[in-house]
Amino acid sequence: MNKLKKTLFSNKHIELDKNSLIMAIESSCDETACAIVKGGREVVANVVASQIKIHEEYGGVIPEIAAREHLEAINVVINETFKQAGVSGKDITAFAGTVGPGLVGCLLVGLNAAKTLALVYDKPFIGVNHLNAHLAANFIDTELEPPFISLLVSGGHTQIIKVDSYSDLNIIGETIDDAVGEAYDKVARLIGLPYPGGPKLDKLAQEGNPFAFKLPQAKVGGYDFSFSGLKTAVLRLVKSFDEKEIPTKDICASFQECVSETLYKKVKSAINETKYKQVVLAGGVAANSEIRKKIFSLKDEGFLVYAPAMKYCTDNASMVAAAAYFFNNTFDDVNVEVFSRA
Ligand code: KG4
Ligand code: ZN
Repeated sequence: MNKLKKTLFSNKHIELDKNSLIMAIESSCDETACAIVKGGREVVANVVASQIKIHEEYGGVIPEIAAREHLEAINVVINETFKQAGVSGKDITAFAGTVGPGLVGCLLVGLNAAKTLALVYDKPFIGVNHLNAHLAANFIDTELEPPFISLLVSGGHTQIIKVDSYSDLNIIGETIDDAVGEAYDKVARLIGLPYPGGPKLDKLAQEGNPFAFKLPQAKVGGYDFSFSGLKTAVLRLVKSFDEKEIPTKDICASFQECVSETLYKKVKSAINETKYKQVVLAGGVAANSEIRKKIFSLKDEGFLVYAPAMKYCTDNASMVAAAAYFFNNTFDDVNVEVFSRA
């Protein structure tokens, strides 16, 4: 794919091709990440410094602490990426950074670093939407091309997106309250698991009986979702047991069954209606064992199903570089400002 890009900063056209090297930075939440990706699909270097250990203590991400940690980590992470790739700034075709949505203080650190690199090396700058980046994780090491239906499940978002082309992305359904990752983290906290509870809940669920308790699947119209009622139902269920006798594994498994079945049904109706042949799973929660299993079962019905490798599901910068390469980003201007909400 060849693509013309013009950035206001450099005021020149660049052509992206299979040999283009994009260096991207991601710092929207609690991961400071930098990567270099060739031709949008081949990861040359991928470095992630996670702050999970620091936020674990507080049971969630504290924005001010997260921003300071990004400041501490950013230069180390960038240098490590150059070192692992064996290239320097002058070899990079364009620099990219996450613009939003995310925590403003956190985004500022990574975005300013990416803009500075572009200025120093006199290269174009490409601003990327974090949600597009999660989708773009599916371009890494694959030959995926639009059109496809995507289920994006992360800590902050739950959306079904119709991707008709690299410049035509339409959200056809989303959550009206909690995001899936948020529901996982809240239910995990309720049963005493440390932050971020999602992956730990997933592990326990695999040892429990998914049909032990029947939990409510919210009836929301179209392709929209709601998970706050389910969270309350789990709270009620947990409280109905003596503290020492809570069947944690069965509750986790039943919750996971309810969430994954709800997501599966909506995706199924979206592909049935749109007649798309390709299904793409994306976002941090795409690492979930049961959601992956149910969405991948669509293969048996003749669909092509994609999900990123585990390390590209949660926040990383390779997906940002892939999004910078493939999508027609609207922030290709070095003056772009960060934003917190989609
Ligand atoms: O995409 P992401 O890194 O952050 C946002 O952009 O929001 O996703 C993080 C979310 C957290 O809520 C985390 O608990 C959840 O993804 N998560 C999982 C699993 N792995 C990560 N949730 C359920 N099962 C998992 N295996
Ligand atoms: Zn994310």
